[in-house]
Amino acid sequence: MDIKIKNLNDKLSQAYLGGGVERIEKQHSNKKLTARERVMYLMDEGSFEEIGALVTHRTKEFGMANQKFYGDGVVTGYGMINGRLVYVFAQDFTVFGGSLSETHAEKICKIMDLAVKVGAPIIGLNDSGGARIQEGVRSLGGYADIFYRNVQASGVIPQLSAIMGPCAGGAVYSPAMTDFTIMIENTSYMFVTGPNVVKTVTNETVTSEELGGASTHATKSGVAHVTSSNDVECLEDLKKLLSYLPQNNQEAPKKFPFELKDEVRDVLSNIIPDSANKPYDMHDVIKGIIDEDSFYEIHKDYAENILVGFARLGGRSIGIVANQPMFLAGVLDVNSSKKAARFVRFCDAFNIPLLVLEDVPGFLPGTDQEWRGIIVHGAKLLYAFSEATVPRVTVITRKAYGGAYDVMNSKHIGADMNFAWPSAEIAVMGAKGAAEIIFKKEINSAEDKEAKLKEKESEYAELFANPYSAAERGFIDEVILPKDTRRKLIKAFAMLEDKKADTPKRKHGNIPL
Ligand code: HXC
Repeated sequence: MDIKIKNLNDKLSQAYLGGGVERIEKQHSNKKLTARERVMYLMDEGSFEEIGALVTHRTKEFGMANQKFYGDGVVTGYGMINGRLVYVFAQDFTVFGGSLSETHAEKICKIMDLAVKVGAPIIGLNDSGGARIQEGVRSLGGYADIFYRNVQASGVIPQLSAIMGPCAGGAVYSPAMTDFTIMIENTSYMFVTGPNVVKTVTNETVTSEELGGASTHATKSGVAHVTSSNDVECLEDLKKLLSYLPQNNQEAPKKFPFELKDEVRDVLSNIIPDSANKPYDMHDVIKGIIDEDSFYEIHKDYAENILVGFARLGGRSIGIVANQPMFLAGVLDVNSSKKAARFVRFCDAFNIPLLVLEDVPGFLPGTDQEWRGIIVHGAKLLYAFSEATVPRVTVITRKAYGGAYDVMNSKHIGADMNFAWPSAEIAVMGAKGAAEIIFKKEINSAEDKEAKLKEKESEYAELFANPYSAAERGFIDEVILPKDTRRKLIKAFAMLEDKKADTPKRKHGNIPL
């Protein structure tokens, strides 16, 4: 029988055979790389060891017995990324469209099992036409074997997915159950049912890109956590993302060398505008606090009213959740609550401390939000923070109003250290709205209603539009000057490093999904 080798050019076949290979350089950056090139680029030079390179499928139907390719459409193995052990699989679109056969699935399952046993991250480079059509239920079973393992590995080892071509049908559910999905602009797409089925069922005309391209999933659905402009950038993104994460849930992320100096950052003193209604960019606050150029933003273009991402502070990995006053005044709504809740749970599962920067006027009112279930989605974020046992620190930069004050990592739901800037306003609601309600009768019976409202508004503001009433009760541990924030946070996280928190024994909680 003629078993073929596809996609192994001279240079790369040396790597396949265990020999040296020259680094694939950036000139490839605007091209789609082959599966093997992707693996070689991702892994430290010479470190990749392939597993199952000689596997072939077992299908006899549809003339398949005479069409066999070594590896059966997926390169699997292990190697090092910046000196850390990582398992990887890369689907090879040149073999039956990268479609998933029973044996293709077995190869992926084998390295997933190894990754869990050893406690090392797994990265999937997806590029596949879905279930191998010639194999029927055997291929569907293969998918389910992978899905099951995704769930068993969830919260145990980091699982990262890159979508580097098609990913359609039930195939989407494996990446969806991993921790992060990176999509490549214009060359990747994900959907449960493609444009043809959509046309037949709903009579909608839509392209693959519109339906499930990177930009759609980065902005509309939130399925993509990060987008990259080409293969090389995507592989670099995977490496960068990995640098913030530990090997598994029993370890802490790698600490980078750091020496505490004065750490005063005057730039933070000039960010909050004079007027409480003026927006400012929370990125500037983040930048002023963290180690230089260390913010790696997740879900950058989705639910922009909240920012989430990884950073380093004093050399330590932290997860940041921050309201963004530049969008919708930083309100909490359905999408921002889901986005932040998922991020908080990831950080908690993998021992990454959480920093919350808070400037939130409350939950977004309206029928749209209520009917879409802001109650249950807002509860997700409340639940996620409340159950998190990693070190948790909050800085209130300006508004902390209403239920959103409670939700955004307040002391009451288990935060360890809560700071506020002097500009903080901590109250049930804004002064104007509060005055209109509680002084309604007095205002209505006044000769000059507007003047009365103004008077009552400033009375309320004086009492509550500051951090001191909360600090008197110990809900805020310290009111700090913005310029001292970095130093205070470095010390707080260092102090919390050995935090241990016991939780009640239970099978699992019931997060409001
Ligand atoms: C077997 C497949 C295949 C598949 C593609 N090929 N998909 N072989 N099973 N699922 C083969 C093609 O026959 C072709 O072989 C080669 O791969 C390249 O495919 P092309 O169609 O020529 O490429 P392109 O034009 O780029 O289109 C790519 C594509 C298209 C959009 C992915 O191939 C496609 O629509 N494929 C089917 C997608 C699909 O419906 N999959 C099943 C989804 S259901 P030759 O020999 O000509 O090179 C599913 C259920 C999973 O996945 C459920 C889990 C719970």
